[in-house]
Amino acid sequence: MVVGAVNVCEFQELAKKVLPKMHYDFFTGGAEDEHTLRENVEAFCRITLRPRVLIDVSRINLSTNILGYDMSSPIMVAAIAFQNLAHSEGEVATTKAAAAANTIMVLSTTSTCTIEEVASSCNGIRFFQLYRAERSGYKAIVLTVETPKLGRRWADIKNKMVAPELKNFDGLLSTEVVDENGSKLEALSSQVLDSSLNWNDIGWLKSITNLPIILKGVLTSEDAIKAVEAGVAGIIVSNNGARQLDFVPATISVLEELQVVQAVGGRIPILFDGGIRRGTDVFKALALGAQAVLVGRPVIYGLAAKGQNGVTRVIEMLQDELELTMTLCGCRSVKDITRNHVRTERDRLR
Ligand code: FNR
Repeated sequence: MVVGAVNVCEFQELAKKVLPKMHYDFFTGGAEDEHTLRENVEAFCRITLRPRVLIDVSRINLSTNILGYDMSSPIMVAAIAFQNLAHSEGEVATTKAAAAANTIMVLSTTSTCTIEEVASSCNGIRFFQLYRAERSGYKAIVLTVETPKLGRRWADIKNKMVAPELKNFDGLLSTEVVDENGSKLEALSSQVLDSSLNWNDIGWLKSITNLPIILKGVLTSEDAIKAVEAGVAGIIVSNNGARQLDFVPATISVLEELQVVQAVGGRIPILFDGGIRRGTDVFKALALGAQAVLVGRPVIYGLAAKGQNGVTRVIEMLQDELELTMTLCGCRSVKDITRNHVRTERDRLR
């Protein structure tokens, strides 16, 4: 009997087998020396668990609520660009899997299916990155704030990575390849990204939409406070999967060490992404103050390996692992997960 992937990391090997090197490198890679890329995952290993015993854990409830939307678990699907390079059905397959799992998916502005195509494929809860989302029934705008300019990814430069057609920008982008020597992404992203974006624009964005605005890419307590003051509905602590600026901290260390949770003080939800590969990682992020997590690369590996079923499997695996972790730590519901259930480096230094 052939045993399939037994955890989400094993989907990476399966994805590597089916993807051309250029695309595998694009999905996998991080900025420059990839120090932060490694740290995003390794920092979780330095946090240990403090299980409580003799609690009736015969029933575990993973469900939660974000911005008024019920979800089956605190595990959401992150915005990932160019998904038809992973699988021909691209974002439509990912959205269907997320909807079937009763969780929220964030659609990237640089998706390969249009926001309308994705919207009409199923009724799941979707967040998007631009105001055109409102018409198509998306429930929140996720404004990525850590990307005034594209980070430098050496593999993409070497591979001369070419972007697929970006249907949300039909007719708006010059397809002329400007940089013959390196990644074609930089030329493209300079047309899609706006490096003049600043705090005043949040007020403007709020004035043109009724949708809640979530800032993705907050990494300091200073910016967390500004985000609350700017009246956003939530923040995502994210370093863009370590693809932007090398040597920013692992996101899991930001929650506590940079006092982002303390700065927000419960006024708005804090979502989290970066390096989630296990149910124990989800548990640790929740224990340190996140209300939910988003998963990026593992979802793409599932999509590449097995299409919609692969994404479903990745979400299921993480949910199963979270359920087992909660059972073994004595937490019956996500609300039962507290700071006392983990031990961090800061605790060891105290
Ligand atoms: C991303 N991410 C991202 N973020 C965003 O706001 N808009 C985007 O278009 C993309 N595109 C994208 C492509 C690829 C290939 C990756 C790996 C990531 C970042 C993403 O939303 C999320 O922050 C990280 O992927 C989370 O880290 P993990 O789970 O991949 O470790």
